[in-house]
This record gives sequence, C-alpha cells and structure tokens, in this order.
Amino acid sequence: MVMKLDKVVPFGRSLDEYIKMFNLSSEDLQQRILGVGDGPASFNAEGTAKGYNITSIDPIYQFAGAEIKQRFDAVVDNIIEQIIATPNNWVWSYHNNPQELKASRIKTLGTFLQDYQLGKQEDRYQAQELPNLDFADQSYDLALCSHFLFLYSAQCDRDFHVAAIQEMLRVSQEVRIFPLLTLMQETSPYLDFVMDKFSNLGYFVAIVKVPYELQPGANKMLVVKHN
Ligand SMILES: C[S@@+](CC[C@H](N)C(=O)[O-])C[C@H]1O[C@@H](n2cnc3c(N)ncnc32)[C@H](O)[C@@H]1O
Repeated sequence: MVMKLDKVVPFGRSLDEYIKMFNLSSEDLQQRILGVGDGPASFNAEGTAKGYNITSIDPIYQFAGAEIKQRFDAVVDNIIEQIIATPNNWVWSYHNNPQELKASRIKTLGTFLQDYQLGKQEDRYQAQELPNLDFADQSYDLALCSHFLFLYSAQCDRDFHVAAIQEMLRVSQEVRIFPLLTLMQETSPYLDFVMDKFSNLGYFVAIVKVPYELQPGANKMLVVKHN
C-alpha cells in the first residue's frame, strides 16, 4: 500500500457530524459499523466511548499519530484561508463560520489522536483501503463512507467507485455514502451510473436527504443495501 501523506488533507468529522451526515438512528448505532476512509475523524473514538461497535479503515493508519498531526498542522491555515476566500461555497449552519470550523477540526483531531494508539491495539483502526478489504463476507451491518467516494470523483474513476461499493456490500449489509458532490461542488458524474448498476444487480438503492450541509446542496446520502 503506497500512500503519500502530503497528498492527504487529514480533516476529520465528529460523531455528531456522522450522525447527521448518515441519519444514524439509535438502532443504527447499536449495529456493527465499518467506517470506510475514516481518517482522523473522531467518530470511532467518541462512539467507542459510548459503547458502540465501530471499526475504521483508512490507508492513513499506516502513519503514526505524530505524522498525521504534522500534516494537519501544515495544511489547516491554508485550507481555512481558501474557505474564507470563497464564502459562497459554504453553508454556515452547522458550523457558524470558518473559525468555528477550524476549532471543530482541531478538536476532532485531538480526540482521534488520544484514542489512536489504543484503537490500533484493539484493531479499531486498520490500515486498509478500497477497493479491497480484508474482512469476511457480511462482517458488518452498516458501512459508512464520508467525504471520500463521489467527493474525489476526479481522482478515482467510475470503475473504482463500482468496485469500492461492491466490496463494501460484500462485507456489510448496507452502505451509506456522503456527500454526493465532488470537490467542484457538482453532483458526481458517476452517481446515476452507480445507482442504475446496483439497482439492476438487485440491491435497494435510494438517495436520502440528511440534516447536514456544509457544501451548498451537499445534504444527501446514497443508501445501497441487500434486499
Ligand atoms: C477527506 S478525508 C475524510 C475523513 C473522514 N471520513 C471524515 O469525513 O471526517 C478522506 C479520507 O479518505 C482516505 N482514503 C484515501 N484513499 C482511500 C482508499 N482507497 N480507501 C479508503 N480510504 C481512502 C484518506 O486517507 C482520508 O483519510
């Protein structure tokens, strides 16, 4: 697995953001959950503290916590400046302004880093990557993929998206992906194809509105599940 940390923006989201991005009910949160591409999100750390059963995979977990923090520190101010320079590209409802967003990302990273060593020992953070996962069929009930598939449509092609979703469906009963927009704030060019493909394969496929929006219009998730 070759990954360059200087290509990654290690911004992570909190448990509360995951709950909103994926419409997670209290029943959902009692399931066996796989976080795919969780990076430095605090979803696993906060969820584990509440007794939830969460495993996270990400190629970034091949790096030490100090390296991930170093990369975050190197890019955070520049990214917040870019956000400030493009005010129309953001919805300030969950986070009230760019400064609050920055504070939230710093807090999330801190919570993740505090849990990282223990979580690695407990196999809750595993260095794995799509499109091939090292889990037995149907090891999980719910696979969540936040801010990776569809968002990085320019970097990962259509075949990658299909293979990645197929693999998540192999290891999990249900897959949820958020957001459906690319970094250019347009609906992913692969969305319609992916929906048709998995529908034709006999899966339940739906777009569901969720109560979270930071990129304008990015308030929907894709649900694909075994019937
Ligand atoms: C923008 S971050 C999102 C982190 C987290 N999901 C969140 O929403 O807070 C995107 C993540 O995708 C991860 N990633 C990159 N390639 C991947 C792959 N092939 N399989 C799984 N994750 C990957 C990156 O390492 C990075 O941590």
